[in-house]
Amino acid sequence: MRGTPLECAHCFVHLPAMLSPTSVKDALNRTAPLAPIMVQGWVRTRRDSKDFSFIELNDGSSLRNLQIIASNSLSNYAAVQRLITGASVSVRGELVASQGKGQNWEVVADEVTIVGASDDSYPLQKKGHTPEFLREIAHLRPRSNLFSCVFRVRSRLAFAIHQFFQERGFYYIHTPIITGSDCEGAGELFRVTAIDCKNPPRQASGDIDYAKDFFGRSTYLTVSGQLEAEAFASALSKVYTFGPTFRAENSNTSRHANEFWMIEPEMAFTDLNGNMDLAEEIVKYLIRDVREKCPEELGLFAKFVDKELLDRLDFVLERSFQRTTYTEAIELLKKSGEKFEFPVECGLNLQSEHERWLTEKHFKCPVTVFNYPKEIKPFYMRLNDDDKTVTAMDLLVPGIGEIVGGSQREERLEVLEANMRRHKMDPADYKWYLDLRRYGTVPHSGFGLGFERMLMFVTGVANIRDVIPFARTPGSAEF
Ligand code: 4AD
Ligand code: MG
Repeated sequence: MRGTPLECAHCFVHLPAMLSPTSVKDALNRTAPLAPIMVQGWVRTRRDSKDFSFIELNDGSSLRNLQIIASNSLSNYAAVQRLITGASVSVRGELVASQGKGQNWEVVADEVTIVGASDDSYPLQKKGHTPEFLREIAHLRPRSNLFSCVFRVRSRLAFAIHQFFQERGFYYIHTPIITGSDCEGAGELFRVTAIDCKNPPRQASGDIDYAKDFFGRSTYLTVSGQLEAEAFASALSKVYTFGPTFRAENSNTSRHANEFWMIEPEMAFTDLNGNMDLAEEIVKYLIRDVREKCPEELGLFAKFVDKELLDRLDFVLERSFQRTTYTEAIELLKKSGEKFEFPVECGLNLQSEHERWLTEKHFKCPVTVFNYPKEIKPFYMRLNDDDKTVTAMDLLVPGIGEIVGGSQREERLEVLEANMRRHKMDPADYKWYLDLRRYGTVPHSGFGLGFERMLMFVTGVANIRDVIPFARTPGSAEF
């Protein structure tokens, strides 16, 4: 490549030739040699032969490494020989067909620039590490094979989510992260405050006076963008949110995080059946997309994480999902003869063990359970004609249990107000939400798909902490 002439007021300046770097992935996928080439990345391993040093270079673009051959004719060969795992380098040279086994291409270096050295304390050594150990070094674990794969799939899955909705005429809405409402009514809210906790303003009663807080009221991190998405579905017809949500629930399980991402479509003029159809469609679409676009990563998961992963994903793609009412599900569980830790009783929530029995042992495929008792579901769900159940739906998948929770929404003003009172909420606090029923109300539906749970499902990774870059769980917010 030639230097580019740049005109300035007095003369022409020749900048040094700039060679833009090629990713390891692109280098390995080439169909012809390339000279010159520049590659940059981190040393995975290095070994010496008589006249050469062989560096395995990885830049996170691929699971595979690119072999660099550095000859003893390099001016800094002594320094190259001291390179150890974890160091960063920039290499110029030629991409040539490899003589060695296991790779098509390698780079014969003309120049190896040591960008950042490493030392023996670098914790990611060649031997395998446990996920528990790697969680403690969450800042370095994306440099491991497993976690680079997980986070490349996470990126692809996020892209596929947007693609799914954009292809179907949905608009992406950014619902607020700071909010005044508790959508799920479960009281699992993280308060957002600018009050000086050493000297808070007080009401006459002695309680803290949040009317004097930053926003003039109590505010929290959102648990769901649903209520705001409903406002936009009542205008743009089909919308979705995709963002972080926060729950101050003290559940130390492999499927709960306190900060997680949720995908929430909301559709006007849509009933529960249309909602269940969309939930099943997106789950299949996302599996198909990752299956097609991330073969290298799925191959690694199938080898080291979950031997049955690919069979399970293909099985889910081929089969139609089952649907069952809550009442039928309870009957099946009661008749199962299975010993459960938690009781099975009409009116009680399904626990994870129950959900997993339904999907793994009984139906042996994903199953959508719908029409739950009104007592165990939030205020916004539409009351059925039986006056006992609401149009709730949960989509359960093998290995995880609930991955989607949603409902048809109560669109009748009086019924919604009555629901609120039943849930000990003051309708006056939700005037804007009730306005949506006052002005041009329509039947509408939506759901929340847990992004991390979906990622666990497509990767086979069993703990939610291992699909989040920096997980927030009870007692743990390092990094
Ligand atoms: O069932 P949930 O609580 O539903 C809602 O929040 C509705 N407002 C959504 C809607 O209708 N727009 O949560 C939806 C999904 C769950 O099915 C689960 O996949 C995921 O969000 N989820 C969690 N994921 C990780 N950690 C947690 N603590 C989660 N809580 C819910
Ligand atoms: Mg739920």
